[in-house]
Amino acid sequence: MRPLILHVVGARPNFMKIAPVMRAIERAGFADVALVHTGQHYDAAMSDVFFTDLGMPRPDHFLGVGSGSHAEQTAKVMVELEKVLLAKKPALVVVAGDVNSTMAGAIDCAKLRIPCAHVEAGLRSYDWAMPEEVNRVVTDRICEILLTPSRDGDENLLREGTPKERIFFVGNTMIDSLLTHLPRAKETPTLRELGLEAGQYAVLTLHRPSNVDDPATFSRLLDGIQSVERRLPIVFPVHPRTRKQLETFGLGARLGAMKGLRLVEPLGYLEFLALTSQARLVLTDSGGIQEETTALSIPCLTLRENTERPITITEGTNVLCGTDPEVIRREAERALGDDGRRGRVPEGWDGKASDRIADVFQRFLAARAGA
Ligand code: UD1
Repeated sequence: MRPLILHVVGARPNFMKIAPVMRAIERAGFADVALVHTGQHYDAAMSDVFFTDLGMPRPDHFLGVGSGSHAEQTAKVMVELEKVLLAKKPALVVVAGDVNSTMAGAIDCAKLRIPCAHVEAGLRSYDWAMPEEVNRVVTDRICEILLTPSRDGDENLLREGTPKERIFFVGNTMIDSLLTHLPRAKETPTLRELGLEAGQYAVLTLHRPSNVDDPATFSRLLDGIQSVERRLPIVFPVHPRTRKQLETFGLGARLGAMKGLRLVEPLGYLEFLALTSQARLVLTDSGGIQEETTALSIPCLTLRENTERPITITEGTNVLCGTDPEVIRREAERALGDDGRRGRVPEGWDGKASDRIADVFQRFLAARAGA
């Protein structure tokens, strides 16, 4: 009988990191795979469309945890996932990224003594105000297999005293998905439907609590965005958290006055990739989009004070702007004026990270079976 490798996903940024890993394991044929969806994200636009776009199998188990406080969400995942783990007894569990579902899965495994692998290990913002930083540090401390997307991840883990036998530099599985799906994304009618021309618009995303939960910060950001929207049209797919805060803070009229800014519903994976890959500029506070723009050589302005993905700055196309409107204006000006800055694609962002992960898993399970 083949061993079972169980994958846990919960929120939007997990799906594109795990889909190629499951496929690589199936191709290599040494284990069976199963998928658990915790239900942290549950809207069709935040979840279902990604399964279709990425060609992911339907989850074998859906935990339906939904939204809540951090403690509630994490606790619900832990309670429900534990039942699945006890019933299925997987040989290995895979979690990805830095969302609450990631940490909850890792804690369950540590307590049940089931080996757990973390895809996208070792990233650090060193900003404890970010809930994701807590999730990253806890997850890495208790996982047995740490799969890093860039060499700085290895360095961070070693600095924290992680045994080096646990660390595997494999590259970036999010870029595996990007390279697989880019040709199909470009065939979608997304630009035409939005009335855009390639290279003639910017894309904006905002959802970090530090940016959208505080009216003063959100408003300052809009000042910065206004200086860009006067120069070229901006498409803004609005995250549900952000939509809610816009309404709460009564920022609707302010946005209505920004004629170059176009708010749209959250987009699917292929539509969003179509949009970013042909944009002139991207402004974001997302982690993954900093990486995708680096892989695509599209200039990116990150509207945060720090990043857990410094390689997108040192090697890629990313510039850290914070939330100061004047800095955003200046950096946008520079990015729009400079066609030269294309950056380079980091090591291991080559579309083969998931194959390297499958290889790590195969050797790990063989060693366990032989022990
Ligand atoms: C979560 C992750 C974040 C990731 C982001 C991507 C954590 C701590 N945060 O943040 O790292 O970058 O996902 O989107 O895990 N909501 C809906 N429908 C949904 C999902 C959420 O309406 O399908 C609304 C709910 O009102 C919810 C709010 O959005 O309260 C926030 O959702 P939540 O899962 O708590 O965190 P995100 O902000 O999405």
